[in-house]
Amino acid sequence: MSDNQAAREAYYAKAATLNVSALWTTRLVPPLPKDSVRAVPFLWDFDNVLRPTLFEAGGLITAHEANRRVLTLENPGLDGSHRILESLYAGLQMLLPGECAPAHKHSPSALRFIIEGQGGAWTAVSGEKSYMKPGDFVITPSDTWHDHGHDGDGPYFWMDGLDIPMIAAFGPMFFEHYAEDRAPLKRPAGDSLARYGANMRPVNETWSKPESPIFSYPYERSREVLEQLRKNEEWDPYAGLKLAYINPTTGGSAMPTISAFLQLIPKGFKTEFYQTTENTVFSPIEGTGRLIVGEGDAQKTIAWKPRDIFAVPCWIPYRLETDGDAVLFSYSDRVAQEKLGIWRERRGNS
Ligand SMILES: [Fe+2]
Repeated sequence: MSDNQAAREAYYAKAATLNVSALWTTRLVPPLPKDSVRAVPFLWDFDNVLRPTLFEAGGLITAHEANRRVLTLENPGLDGSHRILESLYAGLQMLLPGECAPAHKHSPSALRFIIEGQGGAWTAVSGEKSYMKPGDFVITPSDTWHDHGHDGDGPYFWMDGLDIPMIAAFGPMFFEHYAEDRAPLKRPAGDSLARYGANMRPVNETWSKPESPIFSYPYERSREVLEQLRKNEEWDPYAGLKLAYINPTTGGSAMPTISAFLQLIPKGFKTEFYQTTENTVFSPIEGTGRLIVGEGDAQKTIAWKPRDIFAVPCWIPYRLETDGDAVLFSYSDRVAQEKLGIWRERRGNS
């Protein structure tokens, strides 16, 4: 202990009363992300944990409250702060036949990834309905009216991915209910995909919003692209075959703050250890396999199967291996990090 320790302590105590603090007593900017990232790699089992637990809520929460019938995935390292990773929110939502989630809008951007459903459930975004099927990727942009309904049979489950922690860091959190349960429809179902989803656009129409004009990316179409491209057998050793969902008017990410991907890893393939600053949430659609994550004694192997959800925090090395062919959906904060100039990756030991 230094001989003036008591004087220092008194100084720090006085500083606190003046709303200042001594930077030299902290490690505000540590040398590596592992010294500040508190989120841990973790998997939520859909069939055995998430699905039955959320189904149980079906008897507790009325249909009209269905927009809040969501189980938030809490990362064990983040102390119940409603985050799956440092910068991302994830929730699992259930909608039962005949239920509706009333129209509302909010400043955080949301994605929906459909995990289970037999048809008939829809999301209306900005006046356009999209019927949802498992594997579909749907966006509800910032400050855009949206509501959900279910005219079919059987429960629907989807993952909600939002940028809430990023928006919270800046502060401008807004939420508003629409005056009625349903926001008015302005266009027929499938309109935006017809306008912008075929490498064409209406000749005199321009689109200048930061998000994609396409609200729903059907799995059928995206899956077919993977099947077509696999014929090249050009596998990325770190990702297999991985495609990003884009805004067709810019070629950039479909959402301004969240990147979303669909990835095919062929039978028996083992990706090599990969390290990236982006925080990533995966949900396998087809196939089974394992996530090998971390270094040294802290390395873990986590088995995954379709419909599970697992999270890989910033800058933790990981690789994926599969049994048969596997297809995984994932979303991350990559596009936001790229805009801030902080995204990086490390392939192998380079
Ligand atoms: Fe919402």
